[in-house]
Amino acid sequence: MIGCRAAKLQLMLFFAILNLLAYLVVPGVSVKHENFKTCSQSGFCSRNRAYADEASAQGASWSSPYELDSSSIRFENGQLQGTVIKTTTTNEKVRLPLTVSFLESGVARVVLDEEKRMKGEIELRHGSKARKERYNEAAKWTLVGGLDPSKSAALNPEADAGFTKVLYGPDNRFQAIIRHAPLEIQFQRDGQTHVKLNDRGFLNVEHWRPKVDAPKDGEDAKNAEDQSTWWEETFGGNTDSKPRGPESVGLDITFPGYEHVFGIPEHADSLSLKETRGGTGNHNEPYRMYNSDVFEYELNSPMTLYGSIPYMQAHRKNSSVAVFWLNAAETWVDIVKTKPSINPLALGAAGTKTTQTHWFSESGQLDVFVFLGPTPQDLTKAYGELTGYTQLPQQFAIAYHQCRWNYVTDEDVKEVDRKFDRYQIPYDVIWLDIEYTDGKKYFTWDPMTFPDPKGMQEQLDEAERKLVIIIDPHLKNEANWPIIEEFKSKELGVRNKDNNLYEGWCWPGSSHWIDCFNPASIAWWKSLFRYDKFKGTFHNTFIWNDMNEPSVFNGPETTMPKDNIHYGGWEHRDVHNINGMTIVNATYQGLLERKKGEIRRPFVLTRSFYAGTQRMGAMWTGDNRAKWEYLAASIPMVLNNGIAGFPFAGADVGGFFGNPSKELLTRWYQTGIFYPFFRAHAHIDTRRREPYLAGEPYTAIITQAIRLRYQLLPAWYTAFYQASVDGSPIVRPQYYVHPDDEQGFAIDDQFYLGSTGLLAKPVVTEGATSVDIYLSDSEKYYDYFDYTIYQGAGKRHTVPAPLEKIPLLMQGGHVIPRKDRPRRSSGLMKWDPYTLVVVLGQDGTAEGTLYVDDGETFDYQRGAYIHRRFRFADSTLSSEDIGTKGPKTGEYLKTMASLRVEKIVVVGAPAEWQQKSSVTIEEEGAKAGATAPLQYTGPQGGKAAYAVVKNPNVGIGKTWKIEF
Ligand code: NOJ
Repeated sequence: MIGCRAAKLQLMLFFAILNLLAYLVVPGVSVKHENFKTCSQSGFCSRNRAYADEASAQGASWSSPYELDSSSIRFENGQLQGTVIKTTTTNEKVRLPLTVSFLESGVARVVLDEEKRMKGEIELRHGSKARKERYNEAAKWTLVGGLDPSKSAALNPEADAGFTKVLYGPDNRFQAIIRHAPLEIQFQRDGQTHVKLNDRGFLNVEHWRPKVDAPKDGEDAKNAEDQSTWWEETFGGNTDSKPRGPESVGLDITFPGYEHVFGIPEHADSLSLKETRGGTGNHNEPYRMYNSDVFEYELNSPMTLYGSIPYMQAHRKNSSVAVFWLNAAETWVDIVKTKPSINPLALGAAGTKTTQTHWFSESGQLDVFVFLGPTPQDLTKAYGELTGYTQLPQQFAIAYHQCRWNYVTDEDVKEVDRKFDRYQIPYDVIWLDIEYTDGKKYFTWDPMTFPDPKGMQEQLDEAERKLVIIIDPHLKNEANWPIIEEFKSKELGVRNKDNNLYEGWCWPGSSHWIDCFNPASIAWWKSLFRYDKFKGTFHNTFIWNDMNEPSVFNGPETTMPKDNIHYGGWEHRDVHNINGMTIVNATYQGLLERKKGEIRRPFVLTRSFYAGTQRMGAMWTGDNRAKWEYLAASIPMVLNNGIAGFPFAGADVGGFFGNPSKELLTRWYQTGIFYPFFRAHAHIDTRRREPYLAGEPYTAIITQAIRLRYQLLPAWYTAFYQASVDGSPIVRPQYYVHPDDEQGFAIDDQFYLGSTGLLAKPVVTEGATSVDIYLSDSEKYYDYFDYTIYQGAGKRHTVPAPLEKIPLLMQGGHVIPRKDRPRRSSGLMKWDPYTLVVVLGQDGTAEGTLYVDDGETFDYQRGAYIHRRFRFADSTLSSEDIGTKGPKTGEYLKTMASLRVEKIVVVGAPAEWQQKSSVTIEEEGAKAGATAPLQYTGPQGGKAAYAVVKNPNVGIGKTWKIEF
């Protein structure tokens, strides 16, 4: 027996080392499919798919065995409660408590649990110490608000027998129609059905039952269910002991008349999700969400990646609806789209397809939120109310980040820093990957290579630059390291199925994992970031959490065994997709106050995430490759994350694995400047590729691109602010901005920056000299750099894009705030004056906003900010205060009093202005008779006329009018 265990351990070690080596070798081929389950290799996935197949095959004769017991229904305070009875094939009645909550926000929430497990009336196998209930704490980690019950929701007295109808939402225009038997719920807006639950009868709650030996022969054996995946599952040499037996939940969700669905990141796929049941151009596998370190991930794939947000928007002309499947366990989603019906009216939407989805998770409650829109903006707002809006980051965090695995010494870092200055390339943050540590022990510095972290950071600080260092959640299992000794003595780690400290392999070799579900672990982890504890860190040090899926080199599917146990007795199976977020949460809290009284906005980058992580940091798309296809794929990935409420997203600029050609690197920078999170990163085996190494003309072109990002930082920061208050994506896909233009719904290679009207279409193909930009509306669009006019709705327009040119248009009707003076870092731009670009719309007006604060503290929450709306109408540009005053407003405005506008550019200036030579200025109501010179340039070729006002000298935080 012992020999057998030893052999198994040796084998596991062998696989771990193999995995480690694989990581260190730059890949030539793609993902190792054999390391990750397909649906048919996952018990609950195949069972749920088979159940759906059976229901579909039976068609009209299929009857879902779930029925809402009419006599159990109670409705009170916006909440309906009752018991759903599942009748099994052996006529057993399983009781499933149902709660449907109608929320003040107009969102409905359906929760189904299982009475027996809730009451703990089940037996666990193998003497497991796990909890008996279905996991019911996902909400605790994910939701932060939006749960107020609707005051107006009411039963509709007109319901037919066997139905319950609830009116709710704004002016009670929404209605949930609950059919009792078989259970089905339809959600209507203005009398039309937009979302249906269990319409196809795939609802499946795998109830608890004791393991009994299956009959071997006779009639009973023939009728017996296939139990081969119920009690134990083995994959890649790892056996999951499944002490609670089968426990999955599944449900079909249909969006009638909706052809496009978006969301459920993270997948390397198109923005508009594909069908998953085969057919040309479709996937054969469901989209999977099981946070994993997928080495060499492939493109156009429904395979899982590092993070999961089980939130999906469905969109059709002028209507958007959504669902949020709150479950932290492994989850799969099948998608099929039905052909247009012969009788289009039968669908309620003429001639369009219907999207049918099927969701299933391995364990936990069934907990689904339904949003009825009708606009994409309504959805992002309501979803953000529940899971939180994106963090308003520090200013530096939205500037340029320079990373590689690894800058090898503190001198190396200082040299790179100096080179950026020598080449006059702005950057804000330099990063250190795992090699800075002493033998992969986080919270330490390698004394040989980083003997002087203080000197290094002092140099960075001179230009207000920052350092981000990596801290992973695995802790090296090395005797006499005080951190691990303390960790062990306080019992802060994840435990294995036998309730002992779990041990696995990662970068340091043998490691343990912090269990940040445990409040004591959070408190301890937080304390490790204090300056007096983590020596060598300072006010300009921030943190990168990597490998937090968690990645375990010798674990099943490169992660932790599902029967591991977390705080509270929950199995890893139940909480897996939330695990990464708990690490970020603890790190975020650690960074909040590292020294008494020094409270500042933390910056944490995470690889793994779940719904809610947007409140705490940024994410990136993990280990991509230095190939054109990966550059192209990064755009829909970033856009999709924004749709799912986590817009602070980016991809490794340059590609992680491999060496990009100079052209690819240049194009990647030109794309990366439009990622909300803009960081270059590279694998340890790649050649150095800091922008100044590329040589001319590449270095100059890359420098121009980075400077463009810096020039537009005021617009970016304003977009981040907006995202932080209403969830709107920072970069927005075509359908989000033009929800009525069907031709644009599937477009995912161009996007708008916030509400600035800036429309970018980065070049993502080799040798391109132009791109085709699609315009949905009939406004004039102007080239950002030379004001060439493009106009024509529903058409593609060819925009020149030689290597030095970034295809970027400005939609008429906007005012874009900028800062035009190139500096070394964003911190050094703080007191620089503004430029306002007024892009006149067809009706001669334009509008835009600007948000400014100290970019560092939380004082903005007490009014220390400037929020202005600029409007151009009737030949007058005005600045109006749209902020709300707080105790710190006055003091802040005083400090900002000298900050002015140094230039106004009006694009599409009217011809009459040719006669004008100046504008008149009125600030804070005082007609000082001030004027400023105006310079008009007439139209040339296809280029628009424009006018420049030099030094109008109006205050950025002041109310003023400029008359043209
Ligand atoms: C995996 C991350 O995805 C990558 O960015 C990082 O460089 C390596 N881990 C090493 O820490």
